Amino acid sequence: MSLLQVEDLRAYYRTEVYGISRSVRAVDGVSFQLEHNEIYGVAGESSCGKTTLIKVIAGAIKPPLRVESGRVCYSFDDFEADMLKITPQELRTNVRWKEISYVMQGSMSVLNPVRRIVRTFEDIVGTHQGIRDKRAFHEQLREHVNKFGLPHDVLNLYPHQLSGGMRQRVAIALATVFHPSLIIADEPTTALDVVVQRGVLQMLRDIQAESNNTVLLVTHDLAVHANVADRVAIMYAGRIVEEAPTENIFHAPLHPYTKHLIHSLPVIGDKSVKASLGGAPPNLANPPSGCRFHPRCPLAKEICQRVVPDMLTVGDRHRVACHVVAESLA
Ligand SMILES: Nc1ncnc2c1ncn2[C@@H]1O[C@H](COP(=O)(O)OP(=O)(O)OP(=O)(O)O)[C@@H](O)[C@H]1O
Ligand code: SF4
Ligand SMILES: [Mg+2]
Repeated sequence: MSLLQVEDLRAYYRTEVYGISRSVRAVDGVSFQLEHNEIYGVAGESSCGKTTLIKVIAGAIKPPLRVESGRVCYSFDDFEADMLKITPQELRTNVRWKEISYVMQGSMSVLNPVRRIVRTFEDIVGTHQGIRDKRAFHEQLREHVNKFGLPHDVLNLYPHQLSGGMRQRVAIALATVFHPSLIIADEPTTALDVVVQRGVLQMLRDIQAESNNTVLLVTHDLAVHANVADRVAIMYAGRIVEEAPTENIFHAPLHPYTKHLIHSLPVIGDKSVKASLGGAPPNLANPPSGCRFHPRCPLAKEICQRVVPDMLTVGDRHRVACHVVAESLA
């Protein structure tokens, strides 16, 4: 059984300014599954809905974000959870941190700027399982942070005293303190330089290999997915347009948007100028009809403006939503 099943999820930001209501269709018909023991990457350009999608999956839905329809259901080892029906109390006591940890975009958000790092660990562990013996707990904590390449005196520092890479390691150390079934990391390496980034990614990979849990890794940086993910989903304007094992995404992409992303990646020694995609990313308050990529797609046909393409399974764990690909396979 899959760890998570997401079916036809729609989540919109609904706002009202001077009596005019507006809805931003940030996630609009997304379906996918997360398996146990895999690293699943979600890629796509800025504002395509990546963070919104994981907010819903992590149960971090706050107005103006609203789930309009769909299913988000987990099968953990001991129980099942429907994230769209779960009570805040159940979410707090049984799911958050213990089964699902969410490393938010910008690691500072989980760290209280006026509290030493050790206090944040105490707050989270204290709330969820209590701390009987503080000395033994601190000893365990020192061992835990050491595993993440952090010196144990990091525990006595304040967040602003840490480098970006250290803060990100602390955020991931916090996320793994209860060995959750799923770790969700939103752009965990975006603000880091390349060398530090490599260290943090290696650490994420090691943790996953050691605990055999699932990691949902969200980043617009395809090079990161190439290094870490087992499978990758490509999002465009609130929808998944292609999903495949990482190897296929990079070596046999099918969707015109994925092809564009892959062909724009720099190649050592190649000095040719890469063609850019015309047009701009769509406004999700008023997205294009049919296939949302049609105003920018070099292969667009008349049907693309009218009809939303179905998601087709085209190979081993390879899915794609495109009329032209569907026709070529018919
Ligand atoms: N609080 C909000 N109110 C209204 N619209 C919002 C809100 N938060 C996000 N949006 C809109 O929802 C859409 C999706 O945003 P989201 O943050 O999910 O994108 P993203 O793919 O994570 O982008 P990035 O790569 O920049 O992090 C965007 O159009 C964004 O402007
Ligand atoms: S459905 Fe049409 S517009 Fe959309 S990606 Fe395929 S060819 Fe391009
Ligand atoms: Mg984001």
